[in-house]
Parts: sequence; C-alpha cells; structure tokens
Amino acid sequence: MQISVFGLGKLGLCTAACLARAGYRVLGFDIRGDYLEELLSYRAPFEETGLNALLQKVRDKLVFYQDPEKAAMESDVSFIIVPTPSQSNGAFSNEFVLQALETVAPVIAKKSTFHLINIVSTVMPGSCEKIFVPFLEGLSGKKASQDFGVTYNPEFIAIGSVIENFLNPDLVLIGESDKYSGKILEEIYRRTCDNSPFMARTNLINAEIAKLSINCFCTMKISFANNLSQICDAVTGARPEDICHIIGHDSRIGTPYLQPGLGFGGPCFPRDNEAFVQFASGVGGFAKLQEAVIEINARQVDRITGQIKQAVEQYGNAVALLGQTYKPNTYLTERSQALEIGCKLVEAFPENEIRVYDPMANVAGKWKLADSLKECVTGARVVAILTPWSEFLNTDWHRWLANPHVVLNYWEELY
Ligand SMILES: NC(=O)c1ccc[n+]([C@@H]2O[C@H](COP(=O)([O-])OP(=O)(O)OC[C@H]3O[C@@H](n4cnc5c(N)ncnc54)[C@H](O)[C@@H]3O)[C@@H](O)[C@H]2O)c1
Repeated sequence: MQISVFGLGKLGLCTAACLARAGYRVLGFDIRGDYLEELLSYRAPFEETGLNALLQKVRDKLVFYQDPEKAAMESDVSFIIVPTPSQSNGAFSNEFVLQALETVAPVIAKKSTFHLINIVSTVMPGSCEKIFVPFLEGLSGKKASQDFGVTYNPEFIAIGSVIENFLNPDLVLIGESDKYSGKILEEIYRRTCDNSPFMARTNLINAEIAKLSINCFCTMKISFANNLSQICDAVTGARPEDICHIIGHDSRIGTPYLQPGLGFGGPCFPRDNEAFVQFASGVGGFAKLQEAVIEINARQVDRITGQIKQAVEQYGNAVALLGQTYKPNTYLTERSQALEIGCKLVEAFPENEIRVYDPMANVAGKWKLADSLKECVTGARVVAILTPWSEFLNTDWHRWLANPHVVLNYWEELY
C-alpha cells in the first residue's frame, strides 16, 4: 500500500515520516514548492523532537513529489493535513482542504481502484458529509463508499512531542463513510503505532464533534482550576494548587490539566473552543459552558497582569518576564497568554524598561529582549515566570536579583 500526504507542515511531515517508518511508501506533497525542495535534504525544516533523525532514517520510503496528481495517482490512501484557519466568527475555513481535494478528485475519476481520502485537518462538524463528500462526488463523477471512501481522523498531539504522541496515542479517532474505509485506516494505525490504542471507529459527524469535545473538555479542566484560583484570591489560607491536587485524585476527575497556571494557548485549544461555541450555537445548542471556559482564560491574563502591577508598585519597576511561548519546549507563541501579559504590562508601564527572556522564542515588542536568563534577571525587583521552562524553575538565578525582590511563580507546584 502507498500513502500520499498532502500538507507537510508541523503535523503532516511528522505523520508522513511515521507512516514511512512503519514501512509504507509515502508520497509527500506540499503546495509550497521551495519548501518541498528544502525537504529533499531530509533535514527537519522546523524544530520538532526526533524529526530530524526520523527523516534521515526513512529517506528510502518517503519521497517528495512536485506533482500532486502523480502523488494521488500512485497511492491508495491520501492523508489531507492542510491548514484550516479560524475565521472571525470562530469557525474553521475549509478553503485549503477543498483546494487539496480538487487535486485528488480528478485522480479518483480516472482510477479503477478504491481510493481512500483521510481528512486529518481539524474541520467544523458537518464538513465531511455535507461538503467534502458531495464536492468529491461532483468533481469525480464517482460514488462515495463505493468507488472511494472518506475518513475523518484528527490527531491529538502536542507540539514538541508530535512523533511520540503519534506513535503512542490513547486513542485513534476514525470517522468513516463506510466500514471498509475505516478498516483500511485502522490497519494502517495498527501497523504504525508502537502501542495498542483504542480504535474509536464511528461515523463522520461523531468523529468531528468528538475531536472538538476532547480539546474542550481538557480546557474546561484548565479553566476550572484557574477559576478556583481566582476565587481563592479572596479566601485567606486557600491554596488552589493543593485543592486541585486533592480533587484530581478522585478517579472520576483525574489530575491531568487540573492545575492552575496562566491558562491555555497555542495553535489548537483556543480555536477549538471558539469553533465549538460557533458550532453549538449554530445548531441552537447551549454554548455557555464553553463560553465560560474562554472567559475564565481571558480573565487569567488580567488577573496575573494585575498581580505583576501590584508587585511593581510594591518592589520597584525593574521587571523581568520569563517566557513568551504558550508552553515550554516549543518555539510557538501563537495565542500565548505569556505574550499577552507582556503586551498588557508594557501598556501599563510605558516608561519602564521591561526585560523579557525565552529560551526559544524572540518576539519583539515594546520590551527589551534579553539574550540570556542572567541578562534578563540581573538587578530585577519583580520577576514573573510566565512559561514553566525547566531553567526558570530552578532557583540558581535568584542570586542575581536586586534586593528586595519578588518572584511570581505560577508553577510552584507542578504535581
Ligand atoms: N500542529 C498541530 O499540533 C496540530 C494538532 C492537531 C490538529 N492539527 C490540525 O492539522 C492541520 C494542519 O496543521 P499544521 O500545524 O500541520 O499546519 P501547518 O501550517 O504547519 O502545515 C500545513 C501545510 O499544508 C500546506 N498546504 C496548504 N495548502 C495545501 C494544499 N492545497 N496542498 C498541499 N499542501 C498544502 C502548507 O504549505 C503547510 O506546509 C490543521 O487543521 C490543524 O488544526 C494540527
């Protein structure tokens, strides 16, 4: 079996490499021609744990094609992993998915064998059945579930551990237009994964809703913990970290994600919540729960900015902010709460020099970017640890601070 992968970005390239590692011949295509050229060196074009080594290892199995039709024609299964940017109302755009399907459809028209199209991009519920299937049928003149199949197979991976997560998932979510298509995909994952994950096979719409629901549930836990910390601000002796640690041990609840901090950010969590709200209200459903999750997350930025402001008034205005990325071990700053707090602080103190340091990100702003942790904190009176990079969590650097000083550490108890 040969597999084509359309879209070789942060998720697509790792997926292609993992499929090749399982022994499949993988035909990769990306719309950016110069980027494809770069991939011919089999060196990772972006930072991702293990990607470089894996690309080198699978160079015999993973090939890059400039011609998307050829890639589709020579393969039996096409993975579509292209962007689905959020629109102003929170819904995802299908523009790039449709663009990719437009290339595959004429190939389906010509082929005499069954072709499986596997949509991995995160899409709005209803997209597969109401948009993609009719679109493919219209362009190819062939019938879904008979001449070709459609599966929806979103990933639950985290940037920085994409390969590890891909190879060892808790579950593989497979929405299928028909049993045969689902079976093909299940077999691919059984061969590719290092573990034996739960194969969640269902219809297309269930899979689309389940994908958003998983991320919404995780963020609900994050916002629960942060709401608790907002409430505990007004209660002497109450420690939200301890409370979350306790309640997480109830097996009905569980500890993952139940931890106060800065709130959630990054390329998936915020937009999946917004899309869920858009989807729920669009079908006349109750979206207030998810709206509250989003609101608590936004309040967290104001709450922490307020705490830093108060500390500046008390200790002095030499401020150092540690962290810009939305979580440690990544260069990504998309929808980063840390970055937003930095922006609010420079607005609040336009006259002060606010120093910022992050081991991987270097987002310019009205702050001074320090080249090292030492440069950032030397002489500081107020330090806020906004991203829990491990080098920030040890305390060696405290000796470089001015006295008196305060360190606002939102990650003191990482259970
Ligand atoms: N990266 C993640 O952690 C992650 C996790 C879960 C879900 N997703 C979803 O996966 C999808 C892709 O995400 P990503 O982070 O890999 O995006 P990305 O922007 O890193 O990569 C997308 C790639 O698709 C290419 N592309 C665009 N149109 C194309 C076309 N018509 N044909 C071929 N290639 C095309 C782009 O050039 C780019 O290289 C999105 O829907 C995203 O929500 C991503």
